Amino acid sequence: MRVVVVGGSSGLGGAVCQVLAERGARIGLTYNRNEARGLALAEALGALARRLDLSELHGIEATLGELARELGGVDALVYCAAVASTSGGYDRLDDVTWDGIERLFKVNVMGALFCARLVASMGGRNVVLVGSMDGVKSMPTSAPYAMSKGALSAMARALGKELGPRGVLVNVVAPGLFEGGVSAGVPEEVRREYLKHCGMKRYATHDEVARTVAWFALENSYVTGQTLVVDGGL
Ligand SMILES: NC(=O)c1ccc[n+]([C@@H]2O[C@H](COP(=O)([O-])OP(=O)(O)OC[C@H]3O[C@@H](n4cnc5c(N)ncnc54)[C@H](OP(=O)(O)O)[C@@H]3O)[C@@H](O)[C@H]2O)c1
Repeated sequence: MRVVVVGGSSGLGGAVCQVLAERGARIGLTYNRNEARGLALAEALGALARRLDLSELHGIEATLGELARELGGVDALVYCAAVASTSGGYDRLDDVTWDGIERLFKVNVMGALFCARLVASMGGRNVVLVGSMDGVKSMPTSAPYAMSKGALSAMARALGKELGPRGVLVNVVAPGLFEGGVSAGVPEEVRREYLKHCGMKRYATHDEVARTVAWFALENSYVTGQTLVVDGGL
């Protein structure tokens, strides 16, 4: 299996690459600013790595095209890239800026749509979009991030129908909270509420979510248009 992991340099993306490599997949991963992590991961796992800025369509097409050529095709896409904030902090409504939300939607939503389209056109079979519980229920959360993650679930439902006849399956894995990463700015009181209501009484590990993502990427043959929430029973 040949899998492109967009946002492979993320905490979760790195764990996904690790699990995919253990299962014998060939991986093409992307990073944006964290070149050191992207290249180190690629070297450790025998993967390909390319820099990608998701705010520009030409770059998306060029980078995914290059990875697909070097892998000899693409069987699955895992889309892990995201930004959490329009303002640099934990967005309250008054913090949201027009430019900021445009930047956030390019990375969290538009990039996902165009990467899915490219991989489907290259013969890919599984598209796995990493969403968030915030797209399904609110802890509370910040509106722009929740809107973007909810959009991924709507995208999966729509594309599941549109691409199903071509044999392409599109799903969202929607994790609860991890330590760090995009949730680094989540206020302490929200974290406490999360643990209070979470059935498992702990945060997810990257590895637990990565194994769910890997199942969709490597084994799924009939589930499509779905959002699977992996939040320990919130
Ligand atoms: N952390 C959580 O608690 C949590 C909870 C639920 C869902 N999630 C979701 O899980 C996924 C991974 O989260 P994480 O916390 O592991 O993320 P993270 O470590 O903060 O990494 C974010 C990723 O997005 C990439 N990225 C950001 N802006 C980009 C741009 N303009 N162009 C291309 N790539 C860009 C980053 O690349 P560089 O680092 O190389 O710049 C990195 O790979 C995300 O979809 C997130 O929404 C996370």
